[in-house]
Amino acid sequence: MPRYYAQRAREYEQVFDRPHRQPNIAAIKRWLGEQFTDRQVLEVATGTGFWLPAATARALSWQCTDINAEVLEVAKAKPLDFTKLSFRLADAYALDLVPAGSPSPFDAAFAGLWFSHVPLQRRASWLAQLHAQLAPGAVVILMDNRFVAGDSTPISRVDAEGNGYQVRSLSDGSQHEVLKNFPTLEQLQVLLASQARDIEWQELDYFWTLKYRLH
Ligand SMILES: C[S@@+](CC[C@H](N)C(=O)[O-])C[C@H]1O[C@@H](n2cnc3c(N)ncnc32)[C@H](O)[C@@H]1O
Repeated sequence: MPRYYAQRAREYEQVFDRPHRQPNIAAIKRWLGEQFTDRQVLEVATGTGFWLPAATARALSWQCTDINAEVLEVAKAKPLDFTKLSFRLADAYALDLVPAGSPSPFDAAFAGLWFSHVPLQRRASWLAQLHAQLAPGAVVILMDNRFVAGDSTPISRVDAEGNGYQVRSLSDGSQHEVLKNFPTLEQLQVLLASQARDIEWQELDYFWTLKYRLH
């Protein structure tokens, strides 16, 4: 999966060009722009930074992370306020920006189009180690795709653990099998039950958003 996104870096944002998705994309940008006012944000799997211009507008500081330098290079070429942005290569499963026991500067986190790539058996541990990087009471925002039959890339295989996979093609003709799960609100509520409060879920036509606060 990481190699697929590195190879896809230069063509990644074509996925946001689909005309029928524009109203949802505009609504998400508007909503993200309101979520991080005066917050110090840790973003996981920033990718090419498609949401950065909207999401960072009112934030105090924004730490971008991704496992692939190729995608962060695309983000760095955007017209952004680099006085408050920083970029770091980091594996989303091994975030070590804040040493254990140290107070966290991050009072917010964002991951867009990432959670759907987390294997079912790693969801709980991924959330736990994300939360371990954040200050008590931090706001967490996840946003991702809904599966829309006839529009989303079909699931071509389901493994023994129940993870779905899509076969995706790049412009060089290469094909890649990519893990893609579509969580339900009920699954997220169970995962977050002991760690989160004020859970807010929005369902758009093609995307969902989840906002919650840590205890
Ligand atoms: C679907 S893209 C999402 C990018 C961006 N957040 C967005 O909404 O457009 C998934 C991103 O996850 C990154 N990625 C894949 N595996 C990762 C890992 N283990 N740790 C951190 N980033 C990873 C890829 O490089 C890619 O940029």
